[in-house]
Amino acid sequence: MTFVVLSECDNCKYTDCVESCPVDCFHEGETMLYINPDGCIDCGVCVDDCPISAIASEADLTEEQLPMVEINRAGSLAYPVITEKDPARCMN
Ligand code: SF4
Ligand code: F3S
Repeated sequence: MTFVVLSECDNCKYTDCVESCPVDCFHEGETMLYINPDGCIDCGVCVDDCPISAIASEADLTEEQLPMVEINRAGSLAYPVITEKDPARCMN
């Protein structure tokens, strides 16, 4: 089981979430962040740190949201780890 960044993060990227992760499994893509599902230890700490509730447990995803698990996996493989918040990244 893993937590996933949902499409609500797209074009926003507050990046508050990245500093809360104890195992550094956030990755920074072009327009959103991704969680490495193989690194996530399912702690849930990041959920409350996202101001727009864009992180959820895989267990709570709707059928429509389920593809986000593989999208997060692909994004985490394609992009570098981000561990420090950067307010300038918010695109809203
Ligand atoms: Fe990191 Fe925990 Fe969030 Fe997984 S649930 S991404 S381990 S803070
Ligand atoms: Fe995205 Fe929320 Fe993190 S908008 S960057 S998942 S704090």
